[in-house]
Amino acid sequence: MPKDSEQLRATLLAYVETLRRAGRRSVRLRPGWRKGLPSLSIPQQEGVSESLSDARAPLPTAKAPFQEPTSEPASLPSSGSSEPTDQSESSRRLEALRQTTAGCRRCAHLAGFRSQVVFGVGNPHARLLFTGEAPGAEEDRQGEPFVGPAGKLLTRMIQAMGLQREDVYIANILKCRPDLPAGTPGNRKPTPEEMETCLPYLREQIAIIRPEVIVALGATALEGLTGLRKGISTLRGTFLDFQGTPLLPTFHPSYLLHKPDLRLKRQVWEDLLLVMERLNLPISERQRGYFLTKD
Ligand code: URA
Repeated sequence: MPKDSEQLRATLLAYVETLRRAGRRSVRLRPGWRKGLPSLSIPQQEGVSESLSDARAPLPTAKAPFQEPTSEPASLPSSGSSEPTDQSESSRRLEALRQTTAGCRRCAHLAGFRSQVVFGVGNPHARLLFTGEAPGAEEDRQGEPFVGPAGKLLTRMIQAMGLQREDVYIANILKCRPDLPAGTPGNRKPTPEEMETCLPYLREQIAIIRPEVIVALGATALEGLTGLRKGISTLRGTFLDFQGTPLLPTFHPSYLLHKPDLRLKRQVWEDLLLVMERLNLPISERQRGYFLTKD
């Protein structure tokens, strides 16, 4: 088989595997791809083989990076068929852990302040896990991480990678919103003690999900996971290790919101390209060029 075809086949299979693990049970293919597939001799894979030959529409591609999608996301339909057992097992263990955290009072001051525990959201079998530092006001209200302004940007970053929010897992080091004196606007950075107290929950989430890559969003998330206080500017874009799982630090989306600088966006995007390469996700030329400046 020519080298290019081998590479295409490997990339396609890795991508299909990502989707399969995301719970997708069928994929849509461009008509042209269909012709190419027999010569690529894609092996039969449980749950995806039938629909691989059932070409209907394009595979997902990112629209504009970190921007509102201009049309409906090009996602793959879920057939609603039953999940593999290990996926159900992960879901069951995550749900049990979620119930444990829901009543957590390890930090009495946080338990008294929060509206609810913000456990985490996403695919129980995700290959990619993002972690931030702690819920903000909107997350505390909705019970879901990254749903405020920074979360909307994170969602667009995920879509720029050709994925959907439901394909990955999103969590925080702290499951409770850091308390603030009444009437104080904004958010407070979690203390090292609070993070240390809560970290076992995230560790357990990671142990259940077993992602292939963890992305630490921002200096606080990096410090909470690794204890490293070296500047995020120095460590971003370098794969570290978190208990055997590659950990990539990058800037927090809220930093990008406060400092709308194209070079910063490019740096974050380069970090995400590294993640995509590590996961063997397809990367188009267009995606490679996002946020490149002319100078
Ligand atoms: N910032 C975080 O670190 N986590 C959230 O969930 C929201 C904003």
